Amino acid sequence: MQARRDWIAGPAGPVHGTFDVPGDKSVSHRAVMLAGIAEGVSHVRGFLEGEDTRATARIMQQLGVRMETPAPGQRIVHGVGLHGLRGSDAPLDCGNAGTGMRLLAGLLAGQAFDSTLVGDASLSRRPMRRVSDPLQQMGAVVETREGGLPPLTLRGGHSLHGIEYAPPMASAQVKSAVLLAGLYAQGETVVREVRPTRDYTERMLAAFGWPVQMEPGYVRLRGGATLQGGEVVVPGDFSSAAFPLLAAVITPGSHLRLRAVGLNPRRTGLLEVLRRMGADITVHEAREEAGETLADLEIRHAPLRGIDVPVEHVSDMIDEFPALFVAAACAEGVTRVRGAAELRVKESDRIDAMARGLRTLGVTVEETPDGADIVGQGEGRFGGGEIDSHGDHRIAMSFAVAASRSAEAVHILDCAAVDTSFPDFVAQAGQWGLDLRVRETR
Ligand code: S3P
Repeated sequence: MQARRDWIAGPAGPVHGTFDVPGDKSVSHRAVMLAGIAEGVSHVRGFLEGEDTRATARIMQQLGVRMETPAPGQRIVHGVGLHGLRGSDAPLDCGNAGTGMRLLAGLLAGQAFDSTLVGDASLSRRPMRRVSDPLQQMGAVVETREGGLPPLTLRGGHSLHGIEYAPPMASAQVKSAVLLAGLYAQGETVVREVRPTRDYTERMLAAFGWPVQMEPGYVRLRGGATLQGGEVVVPGDFSSAAFPLLAAVITPGSHLRLRAVGLNPRRTGLLEVLRRMGADITVHEAREEAGETLADLEIRHAPLRGIDVPVEHVSDMIDEFPALFVAAACAEGVTRVRGAAELRVKESDRIDAMARGLRTLGVTVEETPDGADIVGQGEGRFGGGEIDSHGDHRIAMSFAVAASRSAEAVHILDCAAVDTSFPDFVAQAGQWGLDLRVRETR
């Protein structure tokens, strides 16, 4: 039996210093996928060495793409061209990664061979009809387990045709699956979104030379062009930066700088919302690298007040709600979240997981179907207790930070999934100033 990894997080003082954060998970997935089906050699720098993105790299290798790792965080990808992938008899294991599975479903829907995508227990509970439906409309043959759950089998040899698709939920993964299938489709593929979501797929396709027409919430491309490999520079992941940022925002006396964080506007909703709550965050040295904006973030502690989170920010901070819930618990007054039902189908039901965990620490939280009301307790300290992360990396990291404001230790259960997005979290958290110990149990 595998050891279970729990954390014991203790109260901590202010966080200080200047730090880097891991490479962006979304960009890293896309970089190895697109480089794999491009012509020529691509050099990816800043690749996230997390389990999710390594699983995607491994799958591309299983499909015949040669990849070298000259140093951690780098991949040299020998592209096989749009039609150069070859099938694998073995299942393609996406691990914990919804992004990996949904984007690969799009990439593999139009191939000449069959593929089966599998995942771990958490991924095997996540909805896949949101991608199988549009792919079937494009002419793909996709099989799922009962209830639209993984494994996903994509039957090869079916020609695809472009569609105009309006996903019922705001989802960059669904948009990306349709666009990637669109590369292999006859004619035009158009995606119109209910709310604009992260646009890395379309931007990277354009950077690799595929003609793409895009504006916020709208993308159009035609099948049958080619991708040309090149350099990909992966920015620091804003969603990983959110945890040290949160620690500095909620802990009196803190002063922290985070270097080279990706500030794609479709990712930075948390910045806007925390500033409205009173946070003191300054952006320095904003610069463009490989089509993405990077900057350093300087954070000083300041008291927070509760707000109604504007619904238009929800997609732009969809992965940051666990962190926002903790900030809200440290604010004066109530913070209201609505329009965020998608949180219930992430690596865990994040509304439920955060509400239960915060209640354990003594915070009042009322759940609604698409959000929650969090009653902040200002600068007061939380209680301690035992919290189930539900095997969800972002729940575990949020409570590790919350514990710094507790009066007693917080035991956080089942934290191994943090390796999917932030493999060095415990060591780095110690450097920021958090008190976090690992306990392996059998
Ligand atoms: C992602 C899109 C989002 C996000 C996930 C990464 C991506 O998911 O939650 O962590 O890289 O496209 P949805 O598309 O399901 O909202």
